[in-house]
Amino acid sequence: MSANKKATLTYADGKTTEFPVLGGSIGPDVIDIRTLYGKTGMFTYDPGFLSTASCSSKITYIDGDEGVLLYRGYPIEQLAQHCDFLEVCYLLLNGELPNAPQNKNFVDVITRHTMVHDQMTRFFQGFRRDAHPMAVLVGTVGAMSAFYHDSLDINNPEHRKVSAMRLIAKLPTMVAMAYKYNMGQPFVYPRNDLSYTANFMRMMFAVPAEDYKGNPVLVRALDRIFILHADHEQNASTSTVRLSGSSGANPFACIAAGIACLWGPAHGGANEAALNMLEQIGDASKVGEFIAKVKDKNSGVKLMGFGHRVYKNYDPRAKLMRETCHEVLNALGLHNDRLFKLAIALEKIALEDDYFVQRKLYPNVDFYSGIVQRALGIPTSMFTCIFSLARTVGWIAQWQEMIADPEYKIGRPRQLYDGAPRRDLVPMDKR
Ligand code: ACO
Repeated sequence: MSANKKATLTYADGKTTEFPVLGGSIGPDVIDIRTLYGKTGMFTYDPGFLSTASCSSKITYIDGDEGVLLYRGYPIEQLAQHCDFLEVCYLLLNGELPNAPQNKNFVDVITRHTMVHDQMTRFFQGFRRDAHPMAVLVGTVGAMSAFYHDSLDINNPEHRKVSAMRLIAKLPTMVAMAYKYNMGQPFVYPRNDLSYTANFMRMMFAVPAEDYKGNPVLVRALDRIFILHADHEQNASTSTVRLSGSSGANPFACIAAGIACLWGPAHGGANEAALNMLEQIGDASKVGEFIAKVKDKNSGVKLMGFGHRVYKNYDPRAKLMRETCHEVLNALGLHNDRLFKLAIALEKIALEDDYFVQRKLYPNVDFYSGIVQRALGIPTSMFTCIFSLARTVGWIAQWQEMIADPEYKIGRPRQLYDGAPRRDLVPMDKR
């Protein structure tokens, strides 16, 4: 971080206060206002963090205007093409891609931690069968701190590492358990001879009554979904994980908080909402009518899977997801898939429409990921669980970075108080 520029705040009476301007390696500079309150007695006001950097980070970089996404400096397109998900996990956690022995060791460690404590199966059984799998996941991931309390000292780097490995290794098992429980099928134990993603698909779809044969094209597609969702700098759920962790809360509790935040339809729930929207539109002939509703501010209808707080250009993940969508549908002989055709028609019309052009609204990663997941046999209610599985590595990498940062402090935003000024209590019989 460099600090050789200054910003000056000038008041109406001509008084001024200076603040350092910090520069990163790429991207916008930031005005360091940490001393603002001390110097001026004022806070800044930025609900929704439209112009506020909450931390410095070396993990992920997004240029929303250009549609660029880098993990540790590497473009997402190169990682999606040349790496598998566990290589990307290693990169996000350690800052560098693994060499062959490092990769082997990392894959071994993750593979050998995929089983969950057997008592967890009884914990799952406490939920109603028809509970939303995300409700089950929030609860069971939070409960991991009750099962793995030998690695909860957040000031011990070895404990932090063990917790990170456990989370990355066990999330697929727990997501698959949430699905199986909901389906009323027996849990399927992990198999150490399979890759991370092939093992997950087997735990999801195998049944004891017959052999399960994975399809490499579909495994690769899901692995790519994991890569594309692995991290996305300081989004709502990651900020939630950081804020929860800033109090010293244990990593399992923090990741459970991240999962809870991700569940919202404006964030990780959008792929489910996008697919439901396509189902509702039903047919390409209805696209015009639907777009008109989206543009009518009184309708409350949004084009789900479109728009992003940071991307004001095509989300690079959406491009890759669209490509994956083609591959999966071709591999399954579904090239005439009704919803995929509808999505393409909808995207084309929206991209040419003034409403979307003026507001720089482009497809985001969720626009196509629902179609891919549906083709893989994953039900819509599981989409956000899949996202949680993939994002766990990003959350834990960001949490680790925060704890190891010598400047780390408890997160404590300020406010503009707009309520009743001081007043005296009136006894109940006089109110
Ligand atoms: N459909 C229609 N209009 C939209 C959409 C949309 N999907 N997204 C934004 N707009 C409009 C807003 O109404 C607003 O119009 P106005 O200026 O006339 O009032 C303008 O575009 C700016 O939108 P904001 O809501 O201010 O943008 P913000 O950055 O706050 O919201 C968000 C971003 C939440 C992603 C929004 O675009 C949205 O709700 N999209 C649909 C849900 C979605 O796909 N979420 C997934 C995000 S990606 C992820 O989490 C992995």
